[in-house]
Amino acid sequence: MSGHDHSHSDLHSEQGRLAGEHVGRSAQPVVKVRDIAWLEFEKPDLVAAEAFSRAFGFTTTYRSATELNLRGALPGAPCVIIRKGRRSRFVGPAFSAEPADLLRLAEHTGHTVQRLPEHLGGTTVDLREPAGARVRVVADVLEHPALPTQDVHTFNVGHDVRRVNATQRPPRQPAVVERLGHVVLQSDRYRASLDWYLDHLGMIVSDFLYFPGQRERGPTMSFIRCDRGDEPADHHTLALTLGPRSRYVHSAYQVADLDALAAGGEHLRDLGYQHSWGIGRHIQGSQLFDYWRDPDGFLVEHFSDGDRFDASLEPGWAEMTASGLAQWGPPATADFLGVAPGRESLHELLSMTTSLRSDNEFDVPRLLGLLKVARS
Ligand SMILES: [Fe+2]
Repeated sequence: MSGHDHSHSDLHSEQGRLAGEHVGRSAQPVVKVRDIAWLEFEKPDLVAAEAFSRAFGFTTTYRSATELNLRGALPGAPCVIIRKGRRSRFVGPAFSAEPADLLRLAEHTGHTVQRLPEHLGGTTVDLREPAGARVRVVADVLEHPALPTQDVHTFNVGHDVRRVNATQRPPRQPAVVERLGHVVLQSDRYRASLDWYLDHLGMIVSDFLYFPGQRERGPTMSFIRCDRGDEPADHHTLALTLGPRSRYVHSAYQVADLDALAAGGEHLRDLGYQHSWGIGRHIQGSQLFDYWRDPDGFLVEHFSDGDRFDASLEPGWAEMTASGLAQWGPPATADFLGVAPGRESLHELLSMTTSLRSDNEFDVPRLLGLLKVARS
């Protein structure tokens, strides 16, 4: 970042806020969460889920007949919790906060602070955001000690030769997941969901996107980070996007570097798992990325080298386009954009017809805007 003019004038997000547009943060949030803690899912087949999780680079911390907990190598709580269920579904995200903040949230929303099961430790307050998703805020959960991570490669660059009499041999093995980075959620009440997260959890917007030609109707996607003051936080811990129904879009897990990401992808390919999109480098957040489908069709991302912003930066504004999802890499695939023939896009089409009739933020101009995104 150049200087400290508080602008956010990087490549592709050259525009700042116009008068009257969303400021991207709450004047007086109820609390400020520190980070995302974990994601919860239900799945019918825990054996298949664990096999994929090993190949993707997770370590199992807890396994019973009805529950599986997965972690990254950096110290902390598990980052994915899967319970046995009749069908596959995303249950919701959990964010971590100070114990006193759970009490504040409980008091403010009329909920209660509850104890988590012994293998997780700590307490939770379970909230609901306007689109209906369950959002947990947890404190004092059990922290697992660090596990070995993959070494970052030593590169010879130009005349800067750091590797002599030694070869470069990235092992073709699972990319070791270090931690959960972010989750992307779609909401049919995007603006209400966004304001709920900013007002209740004190999160702040790093970048806004709007449908092509619809800036005056307001943003339709936001990349949201935790407000840690002077301490830098991930460019986005949560991203929200407007769509015809509320659903999980993808979640992203940090790995060591490009070689770990690429070799880990080859390992997943060798095992026959379904690739979705990559490898490339994103614009909003700048991460190197590679997207995969787990056995239940959930989209999961390996990422490395993401941007960190402290609380001083104001949101950037840009048009939302398929070509604007990456600085380099193959074009976004139909699978990634959710327009490939299959269960997910069928759901999406069916929900469009009901969504256009019901009381939410998704109307006909928004549908036309969304269709324009995939083509641009
Ligand atoms: Fe992502």
